[in-house]
Amino acid sequence: MQVIEKISDIQAVLSGHWNNKTSIGFVPTMGALHNGHLSLIKNAGKENDLVVCSIFVNPVQFNNKEDFKSYPRDIQSDLNILEKVKCDIVFHPSAEEMYPGPVDGRFDFGDLDKVMEGAHRPGHFNGVAIVVSKLFDIVKPARAYFGLKDFQQLVIIYRLVKDHNIPVEIVPCTTVREEDGLAMSSRNKLLGKTERRHAVLLYKSLKMAKVQSGYLPVAQLKKMIEESFRHDKVMKLEYFEIVDMLTLKPIKLWSESKQVVACIAAYAGNIRLIDNLVIFS
Ligand code: PAJ
Repeated sequence: MQVIEKISDIQAVLSGHWNNKTSIGFVPTMGALHNGHLSLIKNAGKENDLVVCSIFVNPVQFNNKEDFKSYPRDIQSDLNILEKVKCDIVFHPSAEEMYPGPVDGRFDFGDLDKVMEGAHRPGHFNGVAIVVSKLFDIVKPARAYFGLKDFQQLVIIYRLVKDHNIPVEIVPCTTVREEDGLAMSSRNKLLGKTERRHAVLLYKSLKMAKVQSGYLPVAQLKKMIEESFRHDKVMKLEYFEIVDMLTLKPIKLWSESKQVVACIAAYAGNIRLIDNLVIFS
């Protein structure tokens, strides 16, 4: 496994592969790797000749300085984890390497980034698009792997490659969960014992929504979830939305859409967590 920090160095290594028509599978991450990330890397290994994983905590996608500062970083442990799977190249650039000058670029995602994460984290998806399009340009992968865990991000990445004609196939990957159902996340490392115990309420709410979707109107279901958060002393709900999977528009009636996903964001203490579950499709 090669660990590369400079753009010119990774491009020098990859250029031989671009010419050889080796298929490159790419997994962009911000590190603090867990089994969710590893499932993406394993999928990339099955479908490609060469696997590239990037580890870069992208400052421009954080709208909150404290969140950026406290984001878990442990490159040595990440490299040890990656040594054990099929990962050929780790790209681990510095912020200066990725952004030598002022960062610019405005992306238009229509209404896709006006709701949920986009509404609560202004500029977040623009920052994601800046780094992902830059990474695609550096690595030029045949396929790139993204988790369904970040559902809105995935929809926006599809839109990014379509609008900008980026020749990469986006491969969605199933959400990997802890035994109690909590979606794996780098931020879970920041949870205290009590917060960790309560954090399962996100998944419980999504499961409850799926079960009750056959019985309750949308508005009543949302109220029920909001109520269950009000009863919890540790968790604070930021949003619970039931949206169309393609447009991400919140629905008011089940009959409005044929493919529906429930998305949730909540704080466990100070730690912000997100999750989602397909209700029907
Ligand atoms: P990060 O949160 O590190 O996630 C990297 C990839 O792993 C994303 O595609 C994410 O959806 C996926 N992932 C995270 N948890 C998962 C889980 N429990 N199961 C399956 N997949 C999971 O998402 C980012 O980084 C950044 O925004 C990035 C795309 C790298 C741009 O900076």
